[in-house]
Amino acid sequence: MDTYILGIESSCDETSMSIVKNGIEEIATVVLTQMDTHSIYGGVVPEIASRMHIENITVVLDELLKKSNMKIEDITAIAVTYGPGLIGSLLVGVEAAKTLSFIYNKPLVPVHHIAGHIYANSLVEELKFPLISLVVSGGHTELIYMKDNYSFEKIGGTLDDAVGEAYDKVARVLDLPYPGGPKIDYLASIGNDTYELPIPKDDNSYDFSFSGLKSAVINLVHNETQRGKQINKENLATSFQNRVVSILTKKTIKALNEYNVDRLIVAGGVAANKGLRNSLTKACLESNKKISFPPMKYCTDNAAMIASAGYFAYKLGRRADLDLNAKASDKLN
Ligand code: KG4
Ligand code: ZN
Repeated sequence: MDTYILGIESSCDETSMSIVKNGIEEIATVVLTQMDTHSIYGGVVPEIASRMHIENITVVLDELLKKSNMKIEDITAIAVTYGPGLIGSLLVGVEAAKTLSFIYNKPLVPVHHIAGHIYANSLVEELKFPLISLVVSGGHTELIYMKDNYSFEKIGGTLDDAVGEAYDKVARVLDLPYPGGPKIDYLASIGNDTYELPIPKDDNSYDFSFSGLKSAVINLVHNETQRGKQINKENLATSFQNRVVSILTKKTIKALNEYNVDRLIVAGGVAANKGLRNSLTKACLESNKKISFPPMKYCTDNAAMIASAGYFAYKLGRRADLDLNAKASDKLN
């Protein structure tokens, strides 16, 4: 029998719901982003985000049911992001999921946000194991070894800023609107690597560190501005992006080789980055490794990925009770 999972995601500034069949086939998805509102403030304002989720959540559900031509009665189980993320935002999705689970008597499945990002890849092709996942988002930069479905072993991660966070902060100092990642990515594609910047944490470990590189860019911009010099934004974006991409590529390929794994899946908002896509694709080709990315629209936050992860969690018997609570931070599990 087919399994239909209703996924709910509200961990940051997107209110999203989706229905996915058997973990791999997207039936319909609705994503309502608050990006325009937050960009006025240069970043996500948590209090505004949670209020907007409250306003949007039922609108998104109505829209999803219309779009999918399904009823909640047709759903097998409800999967929801319980964390990590902004606590007020998470609570809106969690309360909606619990309410629907109670009213319609449907099993409730808790999903870790990063598991969702990883499983966005199974909307392209069913995951095959073992694999390594490089998770790069606004809140995370991690290398995860998976020997099977829903088995997550963290082998390295950032010691300070997440890579998306570094992109957003560099964009800010260059007066680019939030979220800065895609804008830097675009500028990097038309600039030249002319600025001298450090390659961050270029060592033998699987850990990353982006705050030093970020600070180097910020200091450079301040110094040049004080001297009355003009910053070439394209060239600075290219120089910054090249440093980030080269260390991410180097450590990811090292992990694939040392763990003797043939498959890489990339996940999270920064998986949309064209420089990273090109560099990893080329390196995997050279090392004879298979690589997959989520569809562009499912790199950033959405509920299709939560419904997909939710399916595999559901099959493994993971359930939450109605006392499920949101968690601002939690280990990937
Ligand atoms: O996964 P996501 O939607 O939210 C988190 O779970 O954090 O990722 C958002 C992050 C932001 O920092 C955004 O600037 C970054 O992903 N991002 C990019 C690109 N598209 C989104 N960073 C670099 N290049 C991109 N093309
Ligand atoms: Zn995310």
